[in-house]
Amino acid sequence: MTTSASTPWLLARRAERMNPSVIREILKITERPGVISLAGGLPSPDSFPVEAMRAAAAHVLADAPREALQYAASEGYGPLREWVAQHLAGKGMAVDPDQVLITTGSQQGLDLVGKVLIDAGSRVAVEAPTYLGALQAFAPYEPDVVTVACDEQGPLPQALAAARGARFLYVLPNFQNPSGRCMSEARRAELVQAARRIELPIVEDNPYGDLWFDAEPPAPLASRWPEGTVYLGSFSKVLAPGLRLGYVVAPKALGPKLLQAKQAADLHTPGFNQRVVHQVIRDGFLDDHVPTIRARYKAQRDAMRAALEAHMPAGCHWTVPSGGMFFWVELPDGVDAVALLPKAVERGMAYVPGGAFFASEAKANTLRLSFVTVPPASIERGVALLAQTLKEVVR
Ligand SMILES: Cc1ncc(COP(=O)(O)O)c(C=O)c1O
Repeated sequence: MTTSASTPWLLARRAERMNPSVIREILKITERPGVISLAGGLPSPDSFPVEAMRAAAAHVLADAPREALQYAASEGYGPLREWVAQHLAGKGMAVDPDQVLITTGSQQGLDLVGKVLIDAGSRVAVEAPTYLGALQAFAPYEPDVVTVACDEQGPLPQALAAARGARFLYVLPNFQNPSGRCMSEARRAELVQAARRIELPIVEDNPYGDLWFDAEPPAPLASRWPEGTVYLGSFSKVLAPGLRLGYVVAPKALGPKLLQAKQAADLHTPGFNQRVVHQVIRDGFLDDHVPTIRARYKAQRDAMRAALEAHMPAGCHWTVPSGGMFFWVELPDGVDAVALLPKAVERGMAYVPGGAFFASEAKANTLRLSFVTVPPASIERGVALLAQTLKEVVR
């Protein structure tokens, strides 16, 4: 198919499957001055360890400047891979550093997984709702996306039968984006058991697991079925997303193919960034730093909880997240969050309508609120404005 009558370019079928991120489009209209945006999914810039990064960058440039600026191994910087393996041992995962592939953000990990595992028409199972960026990463490989029934903890083990034969189940057990939900120990055990029974591999995405407020989440699914799980981690939420540093831990059977896909994609993740991050975290920096992020986000979570309780009209529901960055709100039946958004922006606040996070049977009466990028006073005001907008339509 040509892009228009006057162009010689033929688009690949996969390009036809690519769509602009609905969220990025929405963010454009919400970036008006004066609008309190609870829409963004960005970590708080106040949590970025600027001084530590500055010192580490200076150290790397003094200590190994030419190595840091040269092409490097596709697998990633050895000491950083070892750090990741040790870090995951603390979560109950037995990982050989050779299994760790450093990626350009975990978003690249999702793309590589799609490239290596999805054929046109093959089935991929996801949660309802799920991370929009994963749906976008998988779409060009033309999967048939199957939604698994979920409750407030994630996929129902008894619903996995509907995904039998799928290439994998993509799942976010910790403080899911967008729903904020977290899976209990019992649910993890049952889900893995059900997946093993039908030989359904798991792709486990865990960018938010360290951002817990009260208790550390139970061990990853990957610790329960290492040969059947690909695990994705990220430095974006515990250090800074602009570094574009994430990692994939793959069972030995998959590692070589993911590495070949990585080589073809970008040769390697910037060696300079990897060395700087390793220099920052090698001596336990995150043990002190991450608790400061948790404390900040917990206070903001509390502000949003209080504001929702104080202002939202009857018929709205939400679950209080015990970590991560998001509240997921269900509006009264019949309220369309897309149609409501321009009215909310008019009043001075913005959110992300929830429909885009569903692969099928989108719930139009849902929305996602981020509590991390604006200070508590603005959270209160933003939620009050949302409630006023809603009261106008549900009267
Ligand atoms: C669930 C989930 N997976 C992956 C990513 C991508 O993160 P990264 O910055 O590591 O590419 C995000 C980013 O928001 C996310 O929410």
